[in-house]
Order: sequence, then structure tokens, then C-alpha cells
Amino acid sequence: MRIIKAEDYYSMSRMAANIISAQIIMKPKCVLGLATGATPLGIYAQLIEWYKKGDLDFSEVTSINLDEYKGLSGDNTQSYRYFMNSNLFDHININKDRTYVPNGLEQDSEKACREYNEIIIRCGGVDLQLLGLGNNGHIGFNEPGEAFEKETHCVKLTDSTVKANARFFENEDQVPKEAYTMGIKSIMQARKIVIVVNGEEKADIVKEAFLGPVTPKIPASVLQLHNDVTLVGDKKALKYIE
Ligand code: GLP
Repeated sequence: MRIIKAEDYYSMSRMAANIISAQIIMKPKCVLGLATGATPLGIYAQLIEWYKKGDLDFSEVTSINLDEYKGLSGDNTQSYRYFMNSNLFDHININKDRTYVPNGLEQDSEKACREYNEIIIRCGGVDLQLLGLGNNGHIGFNEPGEAFEKETHCVKLTDSTVKANARFFENEDQVPKEAYTMGIKSIMQARKIVIVVNGEEKADIVKEAFLGPVTPKIPASVLQLHNDVTLVGDKKALKYIE
């Protein structure tokens, strides 16, 4: 695992955005695996800035997002489709028909997940997967205890994740309790992975995930077994990492 320790959130975002832009420049027809959450916002802002300066071209890029709340439509301001449109896709020249997010409105979980797995295969797999890290070690919405061999599936969110994500909703009751997520197996099949972390509150889970044993209790720990992972964090989140 490569580790990049950045001074602060801004510099963490630039470092990670640099890796993503290198990917796009080296392979314009690449497939990016994208993530939501607060952490990647600075990366998306940076990518938009470089696009506006003419340094980046997304016209041939395909994106496949990690996850979506079950029951939310893409127009719902809390959906991950809405998040991606408003924080990235609406500001760059990506072809929206090639931006994929699980279909939150599909009530048939098996169908929603099967179709998403087919999309990933049809696109030829993910070249670069961007990940954030949940407070309990989740990646995508793979909560502690999930089997490592799963592809896209429906998950019941843990209380801690519902609480953590309540900051984006009016109150906790409004947070959907289920989500569709790419599984650990799908994530591990990405050719490159970049995981981003910032802030003191992530320091303990970063230590457990990357210095501790590989265990489904800390889903992100499986990344230790991937052969091309870059951990990009600010110095607060990486305070236990040499
Ligand atoms: C959500 C998302 C994850 C994300 C995590 C951390 O649960 N499903 O993909 O990594 O939150 O979010 P944040 O970056 O806001 O800490």
C-alpha cells in the first residue's frame, strides 16, 4: 500500500485528484469507480477546476458509483445520484448516459443488484476505484461482518452509519435504513484503488483498518490484500501511520 500524507484537507484533495486525472490522461476511455460522502467533495471541486481550465476531458470517461440508498429517487436531494450530479457530473463534460449509480427506486433488490453487476461487467470493470472510509470501517455501504466475496447486494445499514449519515438529513428518521452497494468482491476487482481519509475522528479506524488484522469486522482492512492501493490522508487522520 502506498501512503500519501498530506498537510491538510485541501492538499489531500489535490493529491487524490492528481491520481484520478493521471488515470484519465493515460486512459481517456477509463472507468472510474466513484464515492459519495463529505471526504471526496474537495477532490470533485479540484477535478471541476482542472476541467474548466481545459486540463481534463471527461468526454470518454465512464463512472460507476459505489452505492445508493434503497427507496430514494435520483431527484431526491439526499440520493447519491443527486449528490454526484450536483457535485461533479453537472459541471464537467461527462456523458451522463455513462454515469451509473444503483437504481434506488427498484424495489426488487435481487434485480437491482443483478443489473448493476451486469453493468460493471459490460463496462469491463473498474480501472480506478475511489473510496471513503466509514467511521466503523465500512467501504461503500459494506458494513462490519459482510462476507468478502459479495458483489452488489442490498444491505441493512447499522445504527452507527444511520447516525453518522443523519447529518445530511433533517433528522435520523429520514435516513433510509437500506442501501444497494457494490460488494467487497466488486471493489477488490478494481485495478487500482485510492482511499481518502481526513480528520482526527478517522485516526483510530485508519489504524485498525490498515495496521490491524484483515477481518470482515473492519471491511476496509481487506484492502491490505489488494496489490494497488493508495491511501491518501491528511496528517490528522494518518497520525498513527508512519
Ligand atoms: C457513507 C458512504 C461511504 C462513505 C462514508 C464516509 O456511508 N456510503 O461511501 O465513504 O459515508 O463518509 P464521509 O466521507 O462523509 O466520512
